[in-house]
Order: sequence, then C-alpha cells, then structure tokens
Amino acid sequence: MDVTINREPKWSKIDHLFLVLAENDRRYRDLALGKAVQKTIDESGFSGRTDESITILGEEPRKITLIGAGKREKLTLRGVRGAIYSVGKTAKKQRDRSIAVAVPYLLPGLDAVDSTRIVADALSQSDYKYDAYITDKDQKNRGPISATLLPVPDLDTKRIRDVEPIARALAEGVRIVRDLGNAPGNLITPSRLAERAEEVAKSVGVKCTVYDKKEIEKMKMGGLLAVNRGSAEEPRFIVLEYAPRKARKHVALVGKGITFDSGGISIKPAERMEEMKFDMCGAAAVIGTIKTAAKLELPVRITGCIPSTENLPGGRAYKPGDIITMMSGKTVEIVNTDAEGRMILGDALHYASQLHPDAMIDYATLTGACVVALASEAAGLFSNDDALARKLIECGERSGERLWRMPVWEDYKDLIRSEWADMKNSGGRWGGAITAAMFLKEFVDCPSWAHLDIAGTAYTEHETGREARGATGAGVRVTVAWLESLSR
Ligand code: BES
Ligand code: MN
Ligand code: ZN
Repeated sequence: MDVTINREPKWSKIDHLFLVLAENDRRYRDLALGKAVQKTIDESGFSGRTDESITILGEEPRKITLIGAGKREKLTLRGVRGAIYSVGKTAKKQRDRSIAVAVPYLLPGLDAVDSTRIVADALSQSDYKYDAYITDKDQKNRGPISATLLPVPDLDTKRIRDVEPIARALAEGVRIVRDLGNAPGNLITPSRLAERAEEVAKSVGVKCTVYDKKEIEKMKMGGLLAVNRGSAEEPRFIVLEYAPRKARKHVALVGKGITFDSGGISIKPAERMEEMKFDMCGAAAVIGTIKTAAKLELPVRITGCIPSTENLPGGRAYKPGDIITMMSGKTVEIVNTDAEGRMILGDALHYASQLHPDAMIDYATLTGACVVALASEAAGLFSNDDALARKLIECGERSGERLWRMPVWEDYKDLIRSEWADMKNSGGRWGGAITAAMFLKEFVDCPSWAHLDIAGTAYTEHETGREARGATGAGVRVTVAWLESLSR
C-alpha cells in the first residue's frame, strides 16, 4: 500500500475511510472529518471493543469502517497492528482504490513521531501478498491501493513531513526482505540471492562484490565450504558497501544466507521442513536495511556481509565427527550438521572483524531454542557491549521491533568444549540459543558486536495470527532506527 500522511485529504477522492478506535474513545472528534461524518460515527453505537467492526454508509466518503482496538490502557502493538492489517484486507476485498485511515491516539509509550511511523509501516504492509506464483487472477493483488494516513491530532505539520519519506523508504526495504524470504528455495539459490543483492545495490548506487566458490576457497572460508559440500549449488559470499562521503561511523551488518536448511546429514523431520526456505531471512534483512539506509542517505558507512549456501545431505556432505578449520584458523568438531548457521557466520564474522568496523551486528534465523524462549514477540539479542545492547533495545521499542537480551557469559563456553578440536558446533539443547551465540563470539574481534537471533520473528506473520507463515522483514526496522541514531 502506498501511504501518504495528510491531515485533510480530498474527501471526494476517498472511497473508504477506516478508523481504528479504542474502546469508548471519542478522540476521532479531534480529526478534521467534517461535522456530518462525526455525527454518523457518534450515532453508530460503535463502542470500540476488540474485534468489533462495522461499516456505515455516508456521502463523502461513501464508506466508513470502524474497527475496535479494545481498551486504551490495554492496547498492545500486536493488537493495533492486527487492526491495521484488517484495514488492508478489507480494502482489498472491497476493491477500494483510495482509502483514508486514522488511528487517533498514540501507541503505548511512544511519542507522536514514532507512533506514526509504526502505524504508517503497518499500513504500508497491510495488503502485502507474495503472489508472484499465483496464476488465478482473482486471488492476486490488483494495482496498489493508495492510503492517506490522518496523523494523530497532536503531531505538528513539519514533523509529519519528516515521517513520510522515512516510512516510504522503510516500506521498500521491508518489502524486499519479504519478497526474498517468501521466494521458494528452488528460485532463491545462493547465486540468485547474490544477483538480487546486486540488483538492489545497483538501484541505490551501492557497491556489491560477489565471491564465487573458487574465491571462497582462496579466502579459506572453511565453515561456509563445509556446509556447502552436500549441495549441488555453489556457495556465494556477498559484500555490499554503502559508503556515503559524510560518514563518521562504519558498521558491518552480517546476515545468515542459508537458502534452504534440510539439516544436512543430521536431517530435520519432514514436518514443516518447508519453512526452512526462510533460513536466509537474516541475509535478506541486511540487503533490505542497506536499501533503506541508502535511500535515506543516512551518513553511516555500512558494509553488508552475506555468506550463502544450501544445507543438504549428499555423498560429499560434511558429517558429524568431521573437524573443520575455519577462516580464522580455529578448528571445529561437527557434532550436528544442522548447526550450520554458526559455521557460515563464523567465517563471515571473522571477515567483517578484519574490516575493523566501529560496530558489527549479525542477523540469523539461528536456533529453534530462541523460538522456544521468546516465541514471535521478540528477537534474542546477544552482545559483548552493554551500551550497544541498551541502544538497540531502545531502538527496538521505538520501531516496534522488540529485542530481548540474553547472556553471553564465558561460563557457557564449557558447553561447546570439544575433546578433539577448539570447540564443537553444538552444545545440545540446554541454553541452545546462548551456546550458538557463544560459538559466534569466538569469531568476533570487535568490541561492539550484537547478534540478533530472529528465528522466531523472521517469518511468523502478526497480521493473521500465530500460525501464519510469511516473511516479516524482521531486523530492518530496529536497524534503520539505530542507524538514524548514529547519524544524529
Ligand atoms: N535454521 C535453524 C534454526 C531454526 C529453527 C530457525 C526453527 C527457525 C525455526 C538452524 O540452522 C538449526 O537447525 N538449529 C538447530 C541447532 C541445533 C542442531 C544445535 C536447532 O535450533 O535445532
Ligand atoms: Mn540448521
Ligand atoms: Zn539453519
């Protein structure tokens, strides 16, 4: 959906007005809706309970739909987002071309600007559908719907103008991540992912270098090569460089690019294995974030590093018991070939460390254990830098993408100690998300590093409830907010 922010749209051009109202909250009266419309709403008997919704017919606009968001003191991000997503769904079903939307109050704990950004973001994504391979025309999205977001009454006009381009660039970045994530594994192979990265980079004047298998061998990326052994598809190592002239800080963003994770020789159960096409959502987050940052011309130098391969079993696949020498020279005993993310990230983090960035963040659908711990409400955050962790958590709250910190105490290293090599690649089930992070930490040589385990947030869609699967764009919102804070 194409979102513009405007207090007073041309009502004659609007097919449908949507109001997401809190229970018994009359704040819509502060919007510039016109007396007749206000009266219609006043008299509708609408109370605003969760899941309550009615459509009333007026003159201008013709249709007014009221959606309940529940009690103001109990508003949740998930609840308001859900209500906004239902706007998109309804507008699509009714074939509206031009809609207006108001959420006439602030989201809990947020100021007007942040609140408006989150609402604009949800609205932008509300009609999203990955329909590239749906051939039935009736099931495909029609042309884009244009939405006018009526700002909360206390947002001043100048600041509204600031939100709009940011919301638009964010929507574009998020969309790239969702399209890449939702694309099937037979189409997004490592080489195809690299081509997509090149296309995105070119569209915003970012440099993109793609290393093929031979070059990866020369670089001695033993972890990436080990995981790749079972696959007929070549691996890729993708480096994106956004280097604006006025940059003061340099950050490296590293993303897990497993285009399909079968588990390898330690093969996964068949049930829901198809979800493992999403195992490159970390890589997609890096590509989408760089697109948004470049569009906004944020004055921060960003290097994106993406190791990419499939993880498949096969006659040449790496095996439990194998010992692998990583790019850094450290050795790893493989005890589970399904712990492949850390193998490719270990090399990428070592590579990125050698660039000596001021800070380094990696994004990975790394562990089922993180999903067990936090479900889809928050990504796991692991960091060797308290200040960075605090900053990211704050940016997460403000951008509507929550992070929850977990420890990386050296004590946990015992769990990945190996009898045969410097470490083993899995510490078993106890503290599974933490031992994965401990493994990554062994390859980090940067005093300011954070690891985001997005296994729970990358592809559980909030719009249709817990069970729906589809890429969400996890990682982009919090990172863009953080990059903005670095440029201030
Ligand atoms: N890609 C998976 C993690 C994952 C699981 C993401 C479920 C999203 C949903 C990762 O490569 C993996 O298989 N991790 C193992 C590690 C274990 C073998 C130590 C896991 O979490 O079970
Ligand atoms: Mn795995
Ligand atoms: Zn994986």
